[in-house]
Amino acid sequence: MNTNTLQLQNETEVQGIQLTDLVKEYGSPLYVYDTESIEYQYKKLVGSFNDTNIRIKYATKALSNISILKYMNKIGIGLDVVSIEELKIGIKAGYAAKEIMYTPSCVDFLEIEEVISLGATLNLDSIPFVEKFGMKYGSSVPLCIRINPHVEAGGNHKIKTGHIESKFGISIDQLDQVYSLVDKYKIDMAGIHVHTGSDFGDIDVFLKVAELMYEVAMNFKNLRFLDFGSGFKVAYKKGDKETNIEELGSKMSASFAGFCKRYGKKLELWFEPGKYLVSKSGYLLAQATVIKPTPATTFIGLNTGLNHLIRPMMYESYHEIINISNPEGPKQKYSVVGYICETDTFAWEREMTETKEGDVLAFKNAGAYGFSMSSNYNSRIRPAEVMIYKGKAVLIRKRETLEDVLKNQIEINF
Ligand code: LLP
Repeated sequence: MNTNTLQLQNETEVQGIQLTDLVKEYGSPLYVYDTESIEYQYKKLVGSFNDTNIRIKYATKALSNISILKYMNKIGIGLDVVSIEELKIGIKAGYAAKEIMYTPSCVDFLEIEEVISLGATLNLDSIPFVEKFGMKYGSSVPLCIRINPHVEAGGNHKIKTGHIESKFGISIDQLDQVYSLVDKYKIDMAGIHVHTGSDFGDIDVFLKVAELMYEVAMNFKNLRFLDFGSGFKVAYKKGDKETNIEELGSKMSASFAGFCKRYGKKLELWFEPGKYLVSKSGYLLAQATVIKPTPATTFIGLNTGLNHLIRPMMYESYHEIINISNPEGPKQKYSVVGYICETDTFAWEREMTETKEGDVLAFKNAGAYGFSMSSNYNSRIRPAEVMIYKGKAVLIRKRETLEDVLKNQIEINF
C-alpha cells in the first residue's frame, strides 16, 4: 500500500480508477469502497499504540457487505456485531465465532441463547439479562458487560449512547447489583465494555471514561480485556477536527499500562471502530436528473435519495459532494436533493462546480452507515456496490431489481 498516493490521490479517482468510468460500467447510483483506505486507517490506529495488546473489532453495522467483512478478516481485524444476522454473516465470511463480539440492545433472550451456542463473545447490557444468564449458564460461559458511564459524548444527540437517559449499558450507579449476581452465580467475567457515542473527537473523554472503567475493573478478578467501543471522529467537512489517533494511542497506551500494573495482569485493549475504518473509504455516485432553477435556489435533482443515504436527513450530517464530471468548472451555488417523494435535501445553497443533466456527483465519506442504512422507500431499488482492491474494481453487490422489491410480497387476488 502506498500511503502517499492515498493522501494525494485525485478526488475523482480511486487507486487509479476514474470514478466516472465505474458509472459507465456499473450504472448509477453506485456505492464504491476503497480497500487501501481501510487498510491505511487500520494500520494508523494499531501503529499509534505502543506495547499494548490491542485488538480491533470492526463495527459491522457501519458497512456489512460480506466481501468487506472478508477483507477485514484478511487484514487481521476482528468483528463487533449487534444482531444474530450480523454474527451469522461474520461466520460465513470466515470468522471464528469467538473472535466476534456480540453487543445486543433489547433483543429477545432466545437470540442470546443462540449466540452462546454459536460461541461468540457475549456482551450484556441489562441487569435482568445478567441474572438470566447467571441462572442458566453460571460460570460455564465467559461474559462481558456494557457499562453506561453517564458521560455525554457524541455528535448528533441521536448517536450519543453513554448519557444517563440512554437505553444502552448498565448504569455505573447500578453496578453493586452486578457484583452480587457475579458472586451468586460465579459468573466468569471476561471483560467490561463501554461505548459513549459516535463522532466525538475529544481524547479527554476517552481518558476520563477509561479511568471510570479501570475503577470498575478492579472489582472483577479475572478479566481478559477492556473494550472501549469507538466514537472516533472523522472529518466530513474541511476543517472538521478529527480524533487525533496518534495522541489517543500514546495517551491510552500509557494509561492502560498503568492500569494493567495495578490490576496485576496484562489485559487486552479492544476498540470497535466503524466510521473510522470505512467512512472515508466510501463514495456514493449518483447522476443529475434535472437542474431546476426556482426563486429560492437552483436545485440539482439526483437519481438517489434518503433511501440510499439517510445521514443528512437523519442526523443533519454534512457530506462533501463533488461534480466529478466537471471537477474544474466555474463555481456557483446549488441545492442538492434526491428523487424521493419527501424532503430529502443533501445540501442547501452549496458552492459547487457547474452541473448539467447527466453529470456524476460523488458523495464523500459514504462508506459508513450509507448502504447499511438504505431502504426500499418509494419502492426504489438499492444501488450496486463495488470494491476497489489492488487497483481493480470488483462488483460485491448487484443492483436490485423490481423482482427483489416484490420478492416477499404476497399478492392476493380479489
Ligand atoms: N460499538 C458500539 C457498541 C456501537 O454501538 C457503535 C455504533 C460502534 C461501536 C461504532 O461506532 P463508530 O465508530 O461508527 O462511531 N448511524 C450513525 C452512527 C450510529 C452508531 C451506532 N453505534 C451515523 O451514521 O452517524
